[in-house]
Amino acid sequence: MNTNKETMQKKYKIFSVIYDNIFDVLENIVFMETDKNPRIALSKRIQGEGEGLFILDVCSGTGKGSIALAETNNTIIGIDISPHMLTLANKKILKRGIKHISFMPMDVRKMDFPSNTFDIEMVSFGLHEMEYELMMVVLKEMHRTLKKGGKLFILDYGKEDRFFLKQVFSIYLYLSYPEHVQRFLEYDWNKILTDIGFRLDEIQACTISQIICATKL
Ligand SMILES: C[S@@+](CC[C@H](N)C(=O)[O-])C[C@H]1O[C@@H](n2cnc3c(N)ncnc32)[C@H](O)[C@@H]1O
Repeated sequence: MNTNKETMQKKYKIFSVIYDNIFDVLENIVFMETDKNPRIALSKRIQGEGEGLFILDVCSGTGKGSIALAETNNTIIGIDISPHMLTLANKKILKRGIKHISFMPMDVRKMDFPSNTFDIEMVSFGLHEMEYELMMVVLKEMHRTLKKGGKLFILDYGKEDRFFLKQVFSIYLYLSYPEHVQRFLEYDWNKILTDIGFRLDEIQACTISQIICATKL
C-alpha cells in the first residue's frame, strides 16, 4: 500500500509542474470537436442529474472535473493522494472564489467517508493508471460510499474508430503507459460493474475516450 502511495506521490509531484499546461493544450487540440469532447459531455451529464447534490470527484488531480461543475448548485468534494496536485486545485478555487467545491488529501483505496454518502461519484482519467486489481478496489470503495440509486460516472480512455486518430492514440499509449493500459481499452464494463453491484446504464463514446454511466443497485 505504502509503496504505491509513495510512487504515486513522487510521480505526481513531477507531473503537477506541467500537468495543466501540457494537458490543457493537448485537450484543446485533441478534444476540439465539441460534440465528442469528453469533459464537456461529462459535465453536461452530471448537470442533467439535477441540483443540490453531493458529488465526489475521485482522483481529482488539479480539479479539472470538479471545476467544470463550478456553475452548478452542487456540493463537490475532490480527493487525491498527491499534495502537489491538490495545491494546484486549491489555488484555482481560491482564485475564482468558488465556495461549494473543496479538495482533500485521501487515498481512494480506503476512503474516510461513511457508506451511502454521495449522490454522484465521478472519476476522470484516474482508473487507467491502475492495474486491474487496484481498480477493482477503488470501484468497490466508490460503490460503498455512493447512496443506493446514486450515479457513477467514469470518464477514461476508450477505443477510437477513426483511422488517423486511432493510429496516433495507439502510439501515444504505447509510448506513455505500461502495458495494462492497452488492456484497459478491452475491459468488459458490464461484467465489472455488475459484479460490484452497479447497473451499467450507458457508455458514451467520445474522442479517444468514453463515459461509462452506472447506477448503484
Ligand atoms: C491522470 S490524473 C487525473 C486527474 C483529474 N481527474 C483529471 O481529469 O485531470 C490521476 C490522479 O489520480 C491520483 N491518484 C492515483 N492514485 C491515487 C490513490 N490511490 N488515491 C488518490 N488519488 C490517486 C493522482 O495523484 C492523480 O492526481
